[in-house]
Amino acid sequence: IKQTPSFKLVSSVSTLFSMPERRPFVRLPTDVYPVNYGLRLKPDLIDFTFEGKLEAAVEVTQGTNQIVMNCADIDIITASFVPEGGEEINATGFNYQNEDEKVTLCFPSTLQKGSGSLKIDFVGELNDKMKGFYRSKYMTPSGEIRYAAVTQFEATDARRAFPCWDEPAIKATFDITLIVPKDRISLSNMNVVDRKPYPEDHSLVEVTFATTPIMSTYLVAFVIGEYDFVESQSSDGVTVRVYTPVGKAEQGRFALEVATKTLPFYKDYFRVPYPLPKIDLIAIADFAAGAMENWGLVTYRETALLIDPKNSCASSRQWVALVVGHELAHQWFGNLVTMEWWTHLWLNEGFASWIEYLCVDHCFPEYDIWTQFVSADYTRALDLDALDNSHPIEVDVGHPSEVDEIFDAISYSKGASVIRMLHNYIGDEDFRMGMNAYLLKFQHKNASTEDLWECLEQASGKPIAAVMNSWTKQMGFPIIVVDQEQVHGSDRVLKISQKKFCASGPRNGTYENCPNWMVPISICTSEDPSCTKMKVLLDQPETTVNITNVAPDHWIKINPGTVGFYRIQYSSAMLESLLPGIRDLTLLPVDRLGLQNDLFSLLHKQADMQEEKNRIERVLGAIPAPDLIQRVLNFALSVLTVIYTALCIQCKLSKQLYSIKQGNSVPFSV
Ligand code: BES
Ligand code: ZN
Repeated sequence: IKQTPSFKLVSSVSTLFSMPERRPFVRLPTDVYPVNYGLRLKPDLIDFTFEGKLEAAVEVTQGTNQIVMNCADIDIITASFVPEGGEEINATGFNYQNEDEKVTLCFPSTLQKGSGSLKIDFVGELNDKMKGFYRSKYMTPSGEIRYAAVTQFEATDARRAFPCWDEPAIKATFDITLIVPKDRISLSNMNVVDRKPYPEDHSLVEVTFATTPIMSTYLVAFVIGEYDFVESQSSDGVTVRVYTPVGKAEQGRFALEVATKTLPFYKDYFRVPYPLPKIDLIAIADFAAGAMENWGLVTYRETALLIDPKNSCASSRQWVALVVGHELAHQWFGNLVTMEWWTHLWLNEGFASWIEYLCVDHCFPEYDIWTQFVSADYTRALDLDALDNSHPIEVDVGHPSEVDEIFDAISYSKGASVIRMLHNYIGDEDFRMGMNAYLLKFQHKNASTEDLWECLEQASGKPIAAVMNSWTKQMGFPIIVVDQEQVHGSDRVLKISQKKFCASGPRNGTYENCPNWMVPISICTSEDPSCTKMKVLLDQPETTVNITNVAPDHWIKINPGTVGFYRIQYSSAMLESLLPGIRDLTLLPVDRLGLQNDLFSLLHKQADMQEEKNRIERVLGAIPAPDLIQRVLNFALSVLTVIYTALCIQCKLSKQLYSIKQGNSVPFSV
């Protein structure tokens, strides 16, 4: 039921067929860094250009006669440096390194250690590439075509709007002024503090926004266009607005309701308030991603924000709620505490992709949204990660061109699934305590994956780093093989082992030298199928577990709630014993879903073992299987669509041929 996010599901063609050589990459030098960006931008919505003036307060940590910054598709007109209390020094050359999206400003004398101001005048294009500072086309209610100017900076496109230190760890404050037509709405991360006529042209106004908190460049945003909005106040005093196309304000109501419920939820969950006075959510007509968490000004594609109250289905409302929940979670996890480098992007996205469900479950318990997590993200992640061409969640990222590659389903869906497993392993109370410590310790700063593990380790006393490294640094996941024996009348001994699960079956018929995971395993019995009776951490290839007080006729199930990121292969007897729990529905829907999914994937692998296959099919047959039926129906539907299209083409072609034979010329379209 979940709509597909806009990330890539498979590796790019280039990585599938030939590994491109990694481009050499060095981060920006740290001898000059920004403290505050004073930025004035004047977009021209007719010519699709913009003029910019940057006046950045910078610190020089070591004497130098050059400043290296990021810059792409921007022409610098003039640049100068004014040391605090000193004379202005004009730059004598701008050396563009286009491949690396950098520019080196060369000065005729040394910029001494200390504070100073860097002034740059530049021009650029409001491009049509949906990245950087770009134009977005829309139609007025009367049918006239017009353009808005909008931004999309993540991951590395702020450098297309103004020369900057475009790395997530180089944080600074921003004072933004936009010079725009007076009949347009102009928005940025912060609230407006000044609006006055532009002296040189009375059709324009100069809009100044409040100073931002210290933040990364990829979270800066501005929008200039025509919009309507609906507004509300969240219970903790934050002004929330949802901006929609003109005439569609009512379609913003649902997202407004979600956002006003969500902000207090996160404030309470993280025990840290939302730090800005306002948050705007805006639907952009041309938008490459699904949504973007710019601090205080979250941008969405229209389908991820707008709900027509009269004509929308439950799945659209659920999708909007999840996307809003996701982007608002980033306001804390990502914006307040930011990843040190793009290598940790999976954590940013994986965390938001998990907590969006926690948030929607809180706001709309009637959605039963976790079951959808299992049927969408969890199963998709297991399916993809079982392939030989999967990759570890955490990958080294260097050159900006590599960043886009890692916005994929492994980062999002596997990332979310392993965080869910971690949350379950730690328990909500300790997890929240660790999250709170992490956010307080690193707020307005940057952090790495290891920093989070350390805070969670401290809060829980559990070996979080060791457990999580086994899931994030190696690709794939295990299949847990379980067998049981009844001993001393009322004790059950489980033999549990792990091996890597591969969709293509074991390599060369063996699983030798295959990796191991630290697997949190929980176990329940038919006495209370929704309650975990025992938890173990499987940190070796195999172990035995003794469970006391299990009557011989009671069944045992591994992974209640389907939270562990692994598949399970039960012995034949254990599998058969689960049948009554499936038939009388005492096994919860997520458990039946997980069981069915495991068996379905095992069925492919065990096609050569007829007896086992029959047994699995018997259990599968007992599960009311909307997912299975859906798959079969989808497949049938796609076959029918292909046949129908082929028939249409054939029909057109024969009509055309007939017509040509008759001497007519017929335009061909399908
Ligand atoms: N930070 C991302 C947006 C993003 C994605 C920017 C790719 C640059 C490249 C945002 O938080 C996000 O994850 N958006 C998702 C929607 C989400 C609900 C899964 C998207 O755009 O698909
Ligand atoms: Zn995200």
